[in-house]
Amino acid sequence: MNKLDTALVSAALQKAGFDLSDNVEKCDVVLINTCSVREHAEEKVFSHLGFLKHKKETNPNLLVGIIGCMAQRLGNELLEHKEVDIVCGPNQIPQIPELVKQVLKSKNKILTVTENIRQESPENPALEDFESVYDRADKRIPAQAYVRAMRGCNKFCSYCIVPYVRGPEVSRPPGKIIEQLKKLAGEGVKQVTLLGQTINSYKYTAGEKVYNLADILATASDIDEIEWIKFVTSYPTRKNYDKILQAMADLPKVCRYLHLPAQSGSDKILKAMNRKYTSQEYLELLEKARDTVPGIAIAGDFIVGFPSETEDDFEATVSLVKKARYKNCFVFKYSPRPGTIGDKKLQDNVPQQVKKKRNIELLAVQEKISDELSSQFLGKTVRVLVEGLSKKPHLNAEAGSDRPQLVGRTAADWIVVFNGPTSLAGEFAEVEITNTSPLTLFGKVEN
Ligand code: 5AD
Ligand code: SF4
Repeated sequence: MNKLDTALVSAALQKAGFDLSDNVEKCDVVLINTCSVREHAEEKVFSHLGFLKHKKETNPNLLVGIIGCMAQRLGNELLEHKEVDIVCGPNQIPQIPELVKQVLKSKNKILTVTENIRQESPENPALEDFESVYDRADKRIPAQAYVRAMRGCNKFCSYCIVPYVRGPEVSRPPGKIIEQLKKLAGEGVKQVTLLGQTINSYKYTAGEKVYNLADILATASDIDEIEWIKFVTSYPTRKNYDKILQAMADLPKVCRYLHLPAQSGSDKILKAMNRKYTSQEYLELLEKARDTVPGIAIAGDFIVGFPSETEDDFEATVSLVKKARYKNCFVFKYSPRPGTIGDKKLQDNVPQQVKKKRNIELLAVQEKISDELSSQFLGKTVRVLVEGLSKKPHLNAEAGSDRPQLVGRTAADWIVVFNGPTSLAGEFAEVEITNTSPLTLFGKVEN
């Protein structure tokens, strides 16, 4: 979501005449798009602010803006920081170009966030227009784009800040989504990722007709130039599940990849988290997915050290991870978020050391599984959409090549590193896998 918002704001600023820069030393304006999901993410922003405060001492004209979830959560508290000029919530981002111009002229600080975000009207025409006009996502990854299908969340998992900073769940009109996809296709986009906090709850009522995610996937599949369609993130409930899996099975363009966070394997903890399923029900969903969509890759999220998580609860999570056989999973240490039910009612009583130990242990369990799954690709040829140059040099890649290391992803979201011409960025390539590690496949390409 944040990557998309950053792309939208960047496009809007460029249209308004600003140039983007990677060099803070040469900038007149610095905007930080922020995340509130864990305390650590917020700490990083404060550390950036410390740096920018210092910069402002030598360049008092530097404009600093905080946008996104932290802006919505902290509002005025952020504006009180001497170095901060603009605080703008995620629902106000269409105003950014105007705000920046205004502050550059007047030098006055500006705050714009949603007052009572949970009471907010689901209609937000300004955001809807903004979305449609500046829909081209991260241009640094050619041929790919994110498209928002839904905003906000109504699930209220007890640990999570999202419903309080992104507001109520709203599904965008199917016509708008499809129009946007067609426009992107016309601009050379080959892969789209539909976004929603709980994308499987997508629901749009137009007269008699109720649209669900499977309907969007089917219509999107009819757009010639779009070759791969991905969607994240799914909430593990039965609602619409069968229809969505059937769409994945029937529609070749829909990638066989599902991000389905379980968060815990202990039913006691799942209940305390306000997740509406048991570990057994979750495993049944996985079984159904694998039966309906052969070869589907599944990724998960887990939180360790949730209040009152005992060794037994953690062992239940380990056991779930072993049974689930994820392609990969993301593991987070519980971080109390002010204002959430978890923070108000539960005590953060698992020591930091224990959280850390469980985090490392769970990742080690997953690493073994990822290694087993990735090694099955040895000797096989996979189709990847090439993203561009690999950011870090990989030792396991092809030796002695004078071509740069490129990175791409398969339809099932496996990361593939290989040497090849940079002209492949944004193109599909067939890569023969010659080496594997738990999270990355390495290979060679013919052309
Ligand atoms: N502490 C730790 N992890 C969290 N997540 C969400 N809220 C918290 C929190 N308070 C994790 C969940 C979610 C992912 C995006 O972040 O696992 O799926
Ligand atoms: Fe947060 Fe739960 Fe909504 Fe996901 S489903 S965004 S974890 S409240």
